[in-house]
Amino acid sequence: MSTRPPLHLLCVVAARPNLMKMAPILAALARQAPSLRITLLDTGQHYDPAMSGQVFTALGMRAPDISLDVGSGSHAQQTAEIMRRYEPVHLALQPRLDAVMVVGDVNSTLACALVAAKLGTPVLHVEAGLRSGDRSMPEEINRLLTDQLSELLFTSEAGARANLLREGIAPERIHFVGNVMIDSLRQQLPRAAPPGATLLDYGHACPPAYGLLTLHRPSNVDDGGRLASLLQAMAELSGELPLLFPIHPRTLAMLRKTGLEQLFEQHAIVPLPPLGYLEMLGLMQGARLVLTDSGGIQEETTALGVPCLTLRDNTERPVTVDEGTNTVAGTEPETIMALARAILQSDGQPGGKRGRIPEYWDGHAADRIAAITVQWLQQCRGT
Ligand code: UD1
Repeated sequence: MSTRPPLHLLCVVAARPNLMKMAPILAALARQAPSLRITLLDTGQHYDPAMSGQVFTALGMRAPDISLDVGSGSHAQQTAEIMRRYEPVHLALQPRLDAVMVVGDVNSTLACALVAAKLGTPVLHVEAGLRSGDRSMPEEINRLLTDQLSELLFTSEAGARANLLREGIAPERIHFVGNVMIDSLRQQLPRAAPPGATLLDYGHACPPAYGLLTLHRPSNVDDGGRLASLLQAMAELSGELPLLFPIHPRTLAMLRKTGLEQLFEQHAIVPLPPLGYLEMLGLMQGARLVLTDSGGIQEETTALGVPCLTLRDNTERPVTVDEGTNTVAGTEPETIMALARAILQSDGQPGGKRGRIPEYWDGHAADRIAAITVQWLQQCRGT
């Protein structure tokens, strides 16, 4: 008598923000479908301990079953190298593989989706349908293409559905499940590191009130002139509110190349290394104001009710502006300063905006994803 092999899902992680999205999904799948086989694959796009290994530990995530150790490179090199290394892994698993789940919008998301789709394995995309409308962002290209390749599309905010329908995605493939990154936030917030302890670890005293700054978008940090102009604005702001600045490796490289690091000695900007997830949560929660070009931080500040200025001209996460605490501030120093001052003078409410928690950012997005995924896998198998 032949027994059927268990349902088998391959889950891909690659860069720091992917881990916060995948951790609650893995836990929910294990709860809801203990017999489901899950292979966890890490492409190794992020490889520094602070960007990867420590985040696995903080989230209580198991070690990956497979690591591709792909590392950095140009977009073409990195994407191609991930595909080259992933294809044989996929082929070896394929006879018993039912689907591949990818999250977010990083190069690994697209690379693995492309390999799987071409080999005929269904792709499930978590955080589908976000659009900035700005195709100069590498992530926007990754989002558009990954969604076209996906069989099931899980969206984090209500507006994403219209974006997908406009691009010809069949409505029955789209599932509004909410924001899985907020699941991680809610689970881990009680364990967030107190800001004072984090600062002490890096040899600094924690100011009584502070702003938190992060910058890593290529459009902001790969051009030395743009980075200098942003940091001049931050230097001015730091006269009114000291700024803590955990520095992404991409940004550090440009700061060193341009000598802009010197600014930190003359102003109340505290440079920090890339921080762990629990440290970052603590600093965000305690911040008077967050200034960032990250996608995830726009969402996390909305969930925490902390004012956020997004240092970009657009956002693919409009719900953080329409309902949350986020304001798209652009990159002009005068505008950023005016918005920051308005926040500082209005008791923490940007432009009087209070912000509310968007629909389904309730800590249960992963449960919804797991339920839909398991049911869909069973239907595909005819079990
Ligand atoms: C990537 C994602 C971005 C995401 C970000 C989160 C793409 C296109 N971009 O950007 O969407 O918001 O991750 O952090 O996938 N580096 C290290 N150590 C590491 C990783 C990177 O030193 O662990 C350095 C390397 O010099 C590398 C550079 O950072 O060239 C950029 O890394 P990369 O993975 O290409 O993109 P990110 O800027 O991290």
